[in-house]
Amino acid sequence: MKNCVAAVLVLLGSLTNLQAQNGINYDESKVPDYVLPELLTSNAGTRITNKQQWEKIRRPELLETFSSQMYGRTPNDKIKVSYTLLDENKNDLNGKATRRQVKFTFSNGSKSIDAILLMYIPNQVKGKVPVIIGYNFKGNHSTHKDSSILYSPALHLVKEPTNPDWVRGCQATRWAFDDIIDRGYAIATMCYHDIFPDKKGLKDHSIVSLFSNYNSNKSDEWQAIGAWAWGSSRIMDYLETQKEVDTKKSVLMGHSRQGKAALWAGAQDTRFKIVISNDSGEGGAALSKRFFGETIEKVSNIPPAWFAPAYSQYANNEAKLPFDQHELIALIAPRPVYVASAEEDLWADPKGEFLGAYHAGPAYALYGLKGLGTTTMPGIHQPIMNDVGYHIRAGKHDVTQYDWTSFMNFADKHFK
Ligand code: GCU
Repeated sequence: MKNCVAAVLVLLGSLTNLQAQNGINYDESKVPDYVLPELLTSNAGTRITNKQQWEKIRRPELLETFSSQMYGRTPNDKIKVSYTLLDENKNDLNGKATRRQVKFTFSNGSKSIDAILLMYIPNQVKGKVPVIIGYNFKGNHSTHKDSSILYSPALHLVKEPTNPDWVRGCQATRWAFDDIIDRGYAIATMCYHDIFPDKKGLKDHSIVSLFSNYNSNKSDEWQAIGAWAWGSSRIMDYLETQKEVDTKKSVLMGHSRQGKAALWAGAQDTRFKIVISNDSGEGGAALSKRFFGETIEKVSNIPPAWFAPAYSQYANNEAKLPFDQHELIALIAPRPVYVASAEEDLWADPKGEFLGAYHAGPAYALYGLKGLGTTTMPGIHQPIMNDVGYHIRAGKHDVTQYDWTSFMNFADKHFK
């Protein structure tokens, strides 16, 4: 037995070495000291002490920093969008919900790109309902077994829906539609590939190709995350035309790479009234300067590019980074923001995600609002629900029932 334990320890030791060699650290005792940029000091050195200074000076300059250095610039040009109602079922989810599938056609006059939004709206609630918005990863048909859910237009470019991992309902456990409806929320989801297919060589099928002068080599050009964030705002444009939903009570939720995109969308577009990032890790809620789990070097090399080329200058050079992710989360203030982690998701660095949320707190304090208020991580399944919220749950990188219940508890707390 002893030998066995020794062998396991040696194996673990060599795995740790291997990970260290690959530039990945999973050992808390090996996290070197790091210094975070001061959230409330402007680039010119002015101390930001009130919300007016924050809104006039610091917030715009941080938005500029994240645009020029990390996610790229979101263009101001307007792209024409038309909406076609493809299907409506007023008696879905056992009569509890109305389902709609709406085609968005984005066009610049010479070229167009289609996307499909899948929506469920509770039937039993009188008046406008709050709405949750979030991208799915494997097509609208992956969110529920229902055979009347249409395939997302870009799906075939990435994977055939007959692929065993991509079949109908294959990600239904990530979409608690019944619960969401029971709690009185509408839900709107779209496949993120419709906006920017997450596969090398498909940029021409992405909405970025509708913008003139797109040049992906430009140091501050927007890439996949910028495009996904832009797409969330286009979903919001549509929802604002829908009489059943109350967009003043809107929640943008994103998981993993979409957790990164949700924070960026929420930072830019203040129409998202609550922003939730689930397991968003590096380039999302996790502090980059904290050397644990995924690194800038890894995340900035994932094809197709998610980040602007400028971001690569910080690969293996995090100390030079003039900003960090707490400043992205702070851009959502005073709107409530929630960061969620999973215990086994070390790649995403749960503690780094927690600290990213914690260090956004001073921006909330400028509004008299409450950040996490503690540098001690809460225990498993013990959410903190202030104006900044956080939980860590048991299990792996995923979206689970526990996550949804907590997200809606947080939203109820702020909306009701
Ligand atoms: C990879 C990537 C992460 C990302 C994740 C996901 O693991 O390295 O940065 O968050 O995929 O989106 O599932």
